[in-house]
Amino acid sequence: MCGIVGYTGSKEAYPIIIKGLKRLEYRGYDSTGVALLNHGLKVYKKKGKVAELEDALVGQDLHANIGIGHTRWATHGEPSDRNAHPHTSSSGKLAMIHNGIIENYTKLKNELIKNGYFFHSDTDTEVLLNFIEDIKINNNCSLEEAIRVALKRVVGAYVILMIDADDPETIIAARKGSPLVIGIGKGEHFLGSDASPMLEYTKEVVYVNDYELAIVKPGELILKNLGNEKITPFVQKLDIELAAIEKGGYDHFMLKEINEQPDTIFDCLRGRLDADKGTITMAGVGNNIEKFCTASRIIIIACGTSWHAGLVAEYIIEELCRIPVEVEYASEFRYRNPVVHPGDVIVAISQSGETADTLVAIEKAKEKGAFIFGIVNVVGSSIARTSHAGAYTHAGPEIGVASTKTFTAQLAVLTMVALKIAKEKATINEERYMHLLKELHDTPDKVREVLKLSGHIKSLAKKYKDARDFLYLGRGYNFPVALEGALKLKEISYIHAEGYPAAEMKHGPIALVDESLPVVFVATKDSYHEKVVSNMQEIKARKGKVVSVITEGDEMSVSLSNDVMIVPAADEIVAPMLSVVPLQLLAYYIGVLKGCDVDKPRNLAKSVTVE
Ligand code: G6P
Repeated sequence: MCGIVGYTGSKEAYPIIIKGLKRLEYRGYDSTGVALLNHGLKVYKKKGKVAELEDALVGQDLHANIGIGHTRWATHGEPSDRNAHPHTSSSGKLAMIHNGIIENYTKLKNELIKNGYFFHSDTDTEVLLNFIEDIKINNNCSLEEAIRVALKRVVGAYVILMIDADDPETIIAARKGSPLVIGIGKGEHFLGSDASPMLEYTKEVVYVNDYELAIVKPGELILKNLGNEKITPFVQKLDIELAAIEKGGYDHFMLKEINEQPDTIFDCLRGRLDADKGTITMAGVGNNIEKFCTASRIIIIACGTSWHAGLVAEYIIEELCRIPVEVEYASEFRYRNPVVHPGDVIVAISQSGETADTLVAIEKAKEKGAFIFGIVNVVGSSIARTSHAGAYTHAGPEIGVASTKTFTAQLAVLTMVALKIAKEKATINEERYMHLLKELHDTPDKVREVLKLSGHIKSLAKKYKDARDFLYLGRGYNFPVALEGALKLKEISYIHAEGYPAAEMKHGPIALVDESLPVVFVATKDSYHEKVVSNMQEIKARKGKVVSVITEGDEMSVSLSNDVMIVPAADEIVAPMLSVVPLQLLAYYIGVLKGCDVDKPRNLAKSVTVE
């Protein structure tokens, strides 16, 4: 994980780097550091968020036209000043920032220690840096050559940025497995983990590929492979606006993103769904429809919230398409010896498109001949590029670390994919197909209605914020929503919360129920509803506090609940896009009331590029 920024040109580097790092804090925020070149190398770093380093540096002479900066999510070595990046080489001339993990660093470190090197941090990064410097000195070669030689011996994932006090205009970067974007300006270049640090300066970017090295000077960008052959950079146009990554008047990105959902779901459907004509246009599915229709099974691979979206899709695809679906945690799938056949379709779901476990799982399935379909939010990301085909969620940049709008956008895409396959396979009748298209079409407006509950949910947050634990229950399509509700609360407020299938509750979690336990039921009207109502009775009988998300007009559930959050009626296939919204708001308001940093919860990161 970690966010990296670099600049070389005629502007002041420090403000560009600091602003860029703030935008990349979603990638980690344990410590921050900047290295500048101005008549020598200057490194400033500190445990804590970017703003803390910025405060500490007020009044310093930070003039420089070249620099690199880092915001860290700790892997090797606790968050501390000395483990913060950039690291400086033994000679004091080279500085490096790194996003990723060097797996064979212990071996390299022992070799270097034998050769007389000392280390000032516990990081794998300092090892790689000195390994490179050692090669540079011993082989009497350029830094570029030394990096190339070193990287051939390195096992792991990385993006590195290096500067050299003896070459005060150049940043050298290299990538394998972690993202790197280079922005092209007039006589200047910007580097970043994503394009957000460069949005106001340029719209022309190059996405660097694995095993590529970039030699970046103000007026020149050279890309090479590790065999020292030049590669022509593929310049792409960015279509993100600056406003999309700003808070737009909201207190937090999370609240802004929750409130954006009517628009993001609409954007996701726009140009694809025509409910009047009864068409769904998705080239990635349409061009590969045979593969989907003849698939012996669909394996969904994802992590976190995206995995929850995958679980909802399991219910939808099996119901509508009659294709067996398995939903896998990417991290588990990749480490066992999974049975994957060439006839299998893998659907990889990822907001960031950079999650390391998901990426490696995809590679593994690809090797076994499976067809990979990616559902990704970040355009041009690694998963988007490595998939055979796919569909973007078009939710725009999501900055809050806890996913919200991308979950509902993933559900919208997955529902369209399922409907398209079902139509082609004729596993759905025309009436139901047209009905579901209309239901999808109406979803943005219904989500807008749900958002009107905001004030009410804020008052519920006040009432329940001091609970020590929460239980979230749901059945069928709403079971994954219960998991997602519990995850949101845990992430944002640090309250222990468990999601469970409502019926399974009697095999264990029911032992937790007493008068102090809020039990959140996701109980919208669907084919499981009567059964869920029985589960509510069971909680009520044991004096648990029933808080439920229900459909308007459901008087029975009202009578059984201590508190309700009422959403508009919707078909069960699209209902999760509505029922999750009150749970996002509940987690948000409880987190705010408890004084938590809801956009940057402790220990988390948005884009998990380590395995
Ligand atoms: C992290 C984030 C989660 C996200 C998960 C998967 O844990 O904090 O919000 O759901 O990664 O990320 P992806 O980008 O692959 O959806």
